Amino acid sequence: MKKAESVFQYEVYNSIKELNASDADLLDAARKATKNSSAIYSNFKVGAAAKLKGEKDFMIGSNHENASYPVSICAERSLLAAVASKFGKKIIETMAISYVNTNKGKSSDEPISPCGMCRQALLQHEVNTKRQMRLILSGKSGKVYIINSAKSLLPLQFDGSAL
Ligand code: THU
Repeated sequence: MKKAESVFQYEVYNSIKELNASDADLLDAARKATKNSSAIYSNFKVGAAAKLKGEKDFMIGSNHENASYPVSICAERSLLAAVASKFGKKIIETMAISYVNTNKGKSSDEPISPCGMCRQALLQHEVNTKRQMRLILSGKSGKVYIINSAKSLLPLQFDGSAL
């Protein structure tokens, strides 16, 4: 037997003010995208914005909930579907994800990271495009995490290469 380990590094910034201009614009777009979220059951409004290779305009997505809860879709996957629907196999260079928790007494100042299902969907984009996708994670304000590849959020990932 031997032990193996998987190490994951990411960047931590104190606020959006420490980001370069294009990352700050993208995070700002993700924060604004929370407005179109329909979080009628959780009150947890998530927004995502994508910077695409060769495109100046960002694409945005948000979470949309359903009375039949599993029918709901997260912001990240709604954005991935919108990008693929509009642009086909276009590369997402960077995706920013933000949220506002409108539940009483809850703050929105700590970064959240994508749920397991979204991690798998983000990984698939990297597999399809053969490129890493940077992730910028932050709440309505406060700390910002930058992760260089969605793949690093899924150690021992199932990437389809075994199929
Ligand atoms: N949600 C997202 O949209 N993205 C995430 O990364 C985490 C969770 C949504 C799903 C649901 O509508 C609400 O947030 C609460 O889980």
